[in-house]
Amino acid sequence: MKNLLLLSLILLISCGPQERVSKETFDEVNRNMEVKRLTEVEILQEAMVWGDSITLEAQAQLSAQLQEAIASQGVVGALDFCKINALPLIQGLEKEHGITLRRVSSRPRNPQDSPDAEELPLLDAYAYNAENNLPSDPSIQKVQGGEVFLYTQPILISSNLCLQCHGAPGKDVADATAKALKQLYPQDQATTYTLGELRGMWSLRLPKREVVKRM
Ligand code: HEC
Repeated sequence: MKNLLLLSLILLISCGPQERVSKETFDEVNRNMEVKRLTEVEILQEAMVWGDSITLEAQAQLSAQLQEAIASQGVVGALDFCKINALPLIQGLEKEHGITLRRVSSRPRNPQDSPDAEELPLLDAYAYNAENNLPSDPSIQKVQGGEVFLYTQPILISSNLCLQCHGAPGKDVADATAKALKQLYPQDQATTYTLGELRGMWSLRLPKREVVKRM
């Protein structure tokens, strides 16, 4: 325990000011770890389980609502759903769990879904694996001096459904959809994907404090 504390302290001191964690949070996490006799490995494992379960929930909710929107309003109508409703759904999960949650892509439809400096190398690694037919598993990285875990998971073009809005215009993407996309997303880069291709990744930032609370 002493060693761990020392290591965390060194990490804290070596971070930039914007990455510094408040002493209060730091003490709280360490107190909880001590009381519960948790090891770093156990905490990482719990972060992985939690990340898996949140992405599963997000994916299920998005997919159910998307299919419902397509069934009731058609593909063009569902575009509005994605633009207007996907975000509140994600924000609801963020609030519920005390985390941040987003989807990023190297060819985003929404420009806000570009990867940041911490996400980019992970996205590149998933792209490399996909191109070389290697399997990709979810991953956990420590960021912000170890006080936050960055959980990522690849998102593939998993079905023909995706192609209606992310496939080849004129072939998979109907003309009316392509036209609506141009209006809603003038900078859209998220077409011409094929089945099985990497579309992007889930990116969750799980505060260590919240992970420890669950244990
Ligand atoms: C009805 C059209 C439609 C369908 C079907 C659809 N998407 Fe999308 N997708 C969108 C729109 C619109 C956005 C941008 C949402 C926003 O503005 O936040 C988007 C965004 C995304 C993003 C976030 C990254 C980015 O480009 O901004 C991912 C990842 C994604 N879609 C994956 C998928 C996958 C996987 C499927 C199939 C399971 C799928 N989509 C099906 C319309 C669709």
